Amino acid sequence: MGDPARTDGGVTFLLTNIGELTTNVAVDGDPCGTVRDAAVLVSDGRVVWAGSAHAVPPRPDALVIDAGGRAVVPGFVDSHTHLVFGGDRAEEFAARMAGERYAAGGIRTTVAATRAASDDDLRARLAALVVECRAQGTTTLEIKTGYGLDVATEKRLARLAAEVTDDVTFLGAHVVAPEYADRADDYVSLVTGDMLAAVAPHARWIDVFCEDGAFTARQSRRVLDAGRAAGLGIRVHGNQLGFGDGVRLAIELGAAAVDHCTYLSDDDVAALAASDTVATLLPGVEFSTRQPYPDARRLLDAGVIVALASDCNPGSSFTSSMPLMIALAVREMGMTPAEAVWAATAGGARALRRADVGVVEPGARADLVLLDAPTRVHLAYRLGVPLVHRVWKDGREQGSRNPFRDSRR
Ligand code: NIG
Ligand code: FE
Repeated sequence: MGDPARTDGGVTFLLTNIGELTTNVAVDGDPCGTVRDAAVLVSDGRVVWAGSAHAVPPRPDALVIDAGGRAVVPGFVDSHTHLVFGGDRAEEFAARMAGERYAAGGIRTTVAATRAASDDDLRARLAALVVECRAQGTTTLEIKTGYGLDVATEKRLARLAAEVTDDVTFLGAHVVAPEYADRADDYVSLVTGDMLAAVAPHARWIDVFCEDGAFTARQSRRVLDAGRAAGLGIRVHGNQLGFGDGVRLAIELGAAAVDHCTYLSDDDVAALAASDTVATLLPGVEFSTRQPYPDARRLLDAGVIVALASDCNPGSSFTSSMPLMIALAVREMGMTPAEAVWAATAGGARALRRADVGVVEPGARADLVLLDAPTRVHLAYRLGVPLVHRVWKDGREQGSRNPFRDSRR
C-alpha cells in the first residue's frame, strides 16, 4: 500500500508542526531566519508560504504532513563535488593514514580509471552517489569534470554530469594531463582551445586548480579568461596545499567562489572580505588528508561570505555528507552551528549565484530537509548519526526514509 503522506512534485502540501524552521530569510540579527512552531506550504514544487503555524493561509486542498515537532532546514547546497569518476583510491588513503602526504599527482590515478570506464559504468556510479547525497539531505549539487583531461573524456564527463545537475563545472585544468608532462603551457592551450569548445555547451562554470603541482597563476588566468570569453562563470581551487595566488586571482577575475582557502595571508582575507567572492571551505579534505583545517572564524570575523561543501572525490575527500561538513566546521573550525548550517545552505547557494535554493521563502524551490531532531544544532551535536528523516526536492519526496524514524525522537 502506498504511503498516504508521500508527495510528488505536483502535490500541494502543508508541512506543519515544525519545531524549528530555518528559512535563511534574515530577521533581526538572525541570518538563519528561525521560526519556531512553524509551517511551510508547498505547491507545484515551490514554496508558497512559510511562517508561524498559527498564521497559515487557508488552503483546504493541501495534504497535511505533521513534522512532529522536528526541525526543518533548507536542502543542503553542495557547491563543490567531483562526482563523475572511475575506480577509487582506497590504497592511497590507507598509505596516507600510514604517513604518506597528500599530493595533487594522485589525480592521475583516477584519470586512468575514468578514461577506461564506459559511459554506463560512469553513469551508474554517478547515479549511486547522487542517491547517497539526496539521502543525506543534499538537494542541489555542483559537479566538476576533471578526471578526463582529454577532449573526448572531458566532454563525456560534462555530458554525464549535465544529466543530473544544471551546475556543471569544466575542470580540464585539474592537473596537467599525463601526455603533456613537461609541456604544461601546451596543455593549457588544449584546455582553452578544443577542450573548452567541446565542453562549454554542457557547462555553466569553469574552474582551475591554481596550486604548486597543478597550474601557475599565469596559466590559471589563461584558463579562466578563456572560460569567461566562452560564457562560463568562474570558480577557483586555491590555497589548498600552501599559500599562493588562487584567492587573489579569483577576486580579481570576479569568481563566484574560491574553494579550499586553507592557507590565507592577511591580504587574502581582507581582499575576500571586500569582495562578493565566496570562500568555500571543504573540511572533508583536511579530515581525510590530516592537514590543518581552514580558519573559518578568522574569515567570518573579517566579514567574508563562507560556504561549506563536501568536495566529494575519490582522492582528498570521499564523503558526500553535508551533515559531516557541518559537524567538522563547528567542532574544528570555530563556526557556530547556526553559521555552519547557513554556510551549507544559503552559503552554497551564494557560491553558485542561485537565489532559488538555500532559502525557504515564497517562490523558492521546495527543497526541504526534515531532521529527526528538535533543532539544527543536533547536526553538529550528534556527529555521525543519521538525522535526515525526510527530504523533498522541488516538492518531490526523495528516496526512502530514515529507517530509525519511528524508533527515535
Ligand atoms: O578538490 N584540489 C584538487 N582537486 C581535488 C582533489 C582531487 C583528487 O585528489 O582526486 C580537491 O581536493
Ligand atoms: Fe575539489
